Amino acid sequence: MRKTPVQTPPRIANAIGVFDSGVGGLSVLRAIRSALPNEDLVYVADSGHAPYGDQTEAHITQRTLTVGQWLAAQGVKAITIACNTATVVAARDLREQTHLPVVAIEPAIKPAVLMTRSGVIGVLATRQTVQSESVARLCAQHGEGKRILLQACPGWVELVEQAELHSSRTDALLRQFIEPLLAQGADTLVLGCTHYPFLSASIQAITGQDVILVDPAEAVARELVRRLKLTLPTQASLPGTTRFFTTGDVKNVQQVVAHLWGHEAEVEAFPSQ
Ligand code: DGL
Repeated sequence: MRKTPVQTPPRIANAIGVFDSGVGGLSVLRAIRSALPNEDLVYVADSGHAPYGDQTEAHITQRTLTVGQWLAAQGVKAITIACNTATVVAARDLREQTHLPVVAIEPAIKPAVLMTRSGVIGVLATRQTVQSESVARLCAQHGEGKRILLQACPGWVELVEQAELHSSRTDALLRQFIEPLLAQGADTLVLGCTHYPFLSASIQAITGQDVILVDPAEAVARELVRRLKLTLPTQASLPGTTRFFTTGDVKNVQQVVAHLWGHEAEVEAFPSQ
């Protein structure tokens, strides 16, 4: 009898799990990959349920718990919520349900307060994020003496999900939400949704170079290193693997991941919806 070839078991156990509503969290994943080249990473794009920003809190919580529990069941050693919306709505619920370290991105209001010269900061984020209690708390904690303008940006996530980073439609949709902030004197803009760093070049073309864009992705990677007490890479270590899963259309997501991640990557179907 012919033996079935033994397949190398996929390396998920002991990997770092990272997820977002879609491909936006790749902006966080690239910071983690660059800080930790030897770690195995598993990324889940919940594209079948994106965008989170326009959905109910109950739905966002249910998705965060579903994806988080799946990652935990695979044996990951930490979960990174690479989605501000999921963080502000559901990070607390996920932390209550798992013993794993959960590192969660949140809008970088505190660093922006230290960077502004005009005293006016714009926070660009999803609807759910700008109206959340967490953001109100961050503003109250760090914003004394500053003007913090919260701006929801419906439509931006969809642009990134379609990899439409530079087009006249993109330019018009970016201007619609950025120009009013500039007119009110904002000199520092917080990219409060992980999809938006992929629009940075187009945003900066509108604002000019004097306006600072703040993206906390590298701070998230540093926090992972600190929480997991990871040692920094050595020449001798094996390069880490990166696996991608999606709840959306695999072919479509694979094309967008290749574009945003910078090279071809196999995307697998998330095994449960
Ligand atoms: N990338 C996500 C965030 O950081 C959410 C996008 C969405 O699905 O609305 O908020």
